[in-house]
Amino acid sequence: MNSKVLTVVAPGKLMLFGEHAVIYGYPCIVSALDKYIEIKGKIIDEKDDKFDIADYSDGFIRRMVSVFRIKYGKKEKIFISSKSTLGRYGLGSSAAISVATVKMLGKLFNIPLSAEELFNISYEGVLKVQKGKASGFDLASSIYGGTILFDGKTKKTSYLNKGKLPFLTVFTGRKAKTVDIVKKVAQEKLRNPKETEKILSEIGKIVLRAERALKEKNWKVVGKLMNDNQKLLVELGVSNGMIDKLVKISLESGALGAKISGAGGGDCILVLVERCLTGKVVENIEKSGGTVLDINVGIGGGVKVSL
Ligand code: PMV
Repeated sequence: MNSKVLTVVAPGKLMLFGEHAVIYGYPCIVSALDKYIEIKGKIIDEKDDKFDIADYSDGFIRRMVSVFRIKYGKKEKIFISSKSTLGRYGLGSSAAISVATVKMLGKLFNIPLSAEELFNISYEGVLKVQKGKASGFDLASSIYGGTILFDGKTKKTSYLNKGKLPFLTVFTGRKAKTVDIVKKVAQEKLRNPKETEKILSEIGKIVLRAERALKEKNWKVVGKLMNDNQKLLVELGVSNGMIDKLVKISLESGALGAKISGAGGGDCILVLVERCLTGKVVENIEKSGGTVLDINVGIGGGVKVSL
């Protein structure tokens, strides 16, 4: 057992390709960001756990602690505090905090956890909190960092890239509730199984093409695939007026591609733009009510205990 105070950091994420389809077993591509959650924790000699968590994520922390305790038969109480540079833009703070908590508990109790075990424990916790469907892609991103291909069926991860990718991240002005949009797609799939399955499998194919284009840094093709993926997300019914408007203005201003990142219904879109046109695209997006965030996509390192 470790009686020191430990600090763990874990990155936020943005989905590049494959949202929604990944829940139904298709692959997706996700990048870690240079924005992190940081938690501090120690074992305490008290009757109850103590949490000093700034936002809504304390449900995730409590659940991770409970899953870990049951799995490893631990009774000691824990103090955990957290801070974040992720803001409330749907950048994966719940996943980052979940992964960071499990990593920290492993260290505090001297239980070595492989990346796979870290994934399995945090995924069990997240499924319990969300009481519904979640692919776990965001946990994998927080664990491994960089840009990864995540398989929705096997939950296996492989690296595509560890460098910065030329995407702009644009907040559309509205926070979205992932769980509600995931439910909406599930209902649509019940109502129209054939059409919905066709869209999901098309998205799955785009992801595999995008994997190759990203590895080759073929930005023209990456942009085209983003636009194809976005059309399918519109058909799936997860876009909204503001997203459509910002996608349109980005493309009209010269961006190579623009699409929803994540569940849709709000949060962020990603825009792929060549450096020489960035100024114009940013200006037009901001005139239309979007906020370009100060975020680097693809360079976040995986979860780590910081010394
Ligand atoms: O809204 P986000 O960024 O948490 O992304 C959700 C992505 C989904 O595929 C819709 C859900 C999931 O768990 O994969």
